[in-house]
Order: sequence, then structure tokens, then C-alpha cells
Amino acid sequence: MALTNTSDRYGALTKFFHWLIVALFAWQYFSGNVMTGMERGSLVAGIGQNAYFNWHKSIGLVALGIAIFRIINRSIGQLPNWAPTLGNGEKVFIHRAEQVLYLAMFVMPISGYIYVMAGDYGVLLFGEWKLPNPIGKIEALANGAKWVHIVAGYVLAAAVLGHVLLVLRHQIFMRDGLLWRMLPSQRK
Ligand code: HEM
Ligand code: HEM
Repeated sequence: MALTNTSDRYGALTKFFHWLIVALFAWQYFSGNVMTGMERGSLVAGIGQNAYFNWHKSIGLVALGIAIFRIINRSIGQLPNWAPTLGNGEKVFIHRAEQVLYLAMFVMPISGYIYVMAGDYGVLLFGEWKLPNPIGKIEALANGAKWVHIVAGYVLAAAVLGHVLLVLRHQIFMRDGLLWRMLPSQRK
């Protein structure tokens, strides 16, 4: 498999980053909802609230680094041609959904970062390193960023749902193997 995209398929780097972000975002949604919903002093799966917060913030910042790699990888390389089974309306939908997905890959971690820095909660990276706070406590900014983080989380979830439903519609009902285009051994 080629490392970069070619005109007829996605390369290894695009596929690797795609599924890495899926895994990291799955963790972000799980941990985000667990940590905000749990009782103080309680444990979920043997893990306390502070640890969930630390790992949510830390993995979120790692995801920001990957999003930067990913957008560079996409902008310097080429994209494969459209799958031949996509209709014109679907191409427009995919294009818009991908814009939202890329935007969310930045808005989510940046709003989370601004929220915790402006709220003066800080980031203890992987439970070990306290990051400096270049913003300082600004309550109004923290509230705004928290609001953006929560709303963007719903917008991202809707875009992912639309993206996944489109892929599954093709894969399961149209049986055109669209999903294979993003899997390691492309069969189509
Ligand atoms: C990279 C992608 C990220 C995703 C997908 C994500 C997703 C989420 C979700 C789904 C929630 C639950 C929201 C709710 O209360 O309904 C949440 C909460 C939260 N996130 Fe993130 N997050 C990300 C990155 C970050 C980063 C980098 C930070 C900080 C450095 C952060 C800090 C927080 C905090 C403090 C909360 C709790 C907000 C509250 O008190 O309601 N997040 N996040
Ligand atoms: C956090 C969740 C997800 C995000 C942010 C995301 C994002 C993207 C983006 C931006 C692309 C365009 C290629 C690129 O620039 O990398 C893409 C393509 C693709 N995604 Fe996802 N995706 C997510 C989840 C999923 C899931 C769960 C599936 C499986 C059903 C999936 C299947 C695909 C496929 C098959 C393509 C290639 C479509 C084509 O032929 O062009 N994605 N995804």
C-alpha cells in the first residue's frame, strides 16, 4: 500500500490518521460524558473523576496534534477520485460533512483548551506535567469556550452520524464496497 494517496485510492497515512482520530474521539466522547456525569469521589471502571479529566484533556491535545498532521497531509497531497457510485447530491453532502469534520477536529480541542486555561483549571498532561497557563483567569472567556465545546460536540456527532450512515448505506445496501476505500487492504 502506498504511503500517500494516489488518484484511485487513499494511502496508508490517510487511513492510519483517519482511524486513529476515530479511536481518540470515541475516547473523548466516552470520557467527556463520564467525567461530567459522575459523582464526586466515585469511580467508573475503577477510575476517578480527576483521572478522567486529565486523560480527556491530554488525549484531546494529542488529537489536536494529529489533526494538524492530517490537514497538512491532506493539503499537500492529492485526493483519490470520487467513488464512481456516488451521486451528485452525495458528493455535495460528503464535501460539506468533511468540512465540518475537519473544522471540529480543531474547534473541539482548542475550545476545550481555552475553557480550562481561562477557567484556571489547567492541564496536568498525562497526570505528570502541569502546562503553563498563557491565558490567565478570564471567566467570561471560559464560559464562552465551554459553551462552544459542548455545542460543537453535538455538531461533530451529527456530522459523524451523517458520514457513517452514508458509508454504511453504500456498503450494506448498495454493496459497492465504499468502506474498503478507508480500510488497510482495499478490495475494490
Ligand atoms: C479533541 C477532541 C475533544 C472532543 C471530541 C471532546 C469532547 C467532549 C465532550 C463530548 C464533552 C462532554 C460535554 C458535555 O458536558 O455534554 C467534553 C467535556 C469537556 N472537555 Fe472535551 N473534548 C475534546 C478535547 C478537549 C480538550 C483538549 C480539553 C482541555 C484541554 C477538553 C476539556 C473538557 C472539559 C473541561 C469538559 C467538561 C465540560 C463541562 O464541565 O461540562 N476537551 N468534551
Ligand atoms: C470521528 C469520526 C470520523 C471522522 C472525523 C471522519 C472523517 C473523515 C474524513 C475527513 C474523510 C475524508 C478523507 C480524509 O481527508 O481523511 C473520511 C473518509 C472516510 N470515512 Fe470517516 N470519519 C469518521 C468516522 C468514520 C467511521 C466510523 C467510518 C466507518 C463507517 C468512516 C468511514 C470512512 C470512509 C469509508 C471514508 C472514505 C470515503 C471515500 O470513499 O472517499 N469514517 N472520514
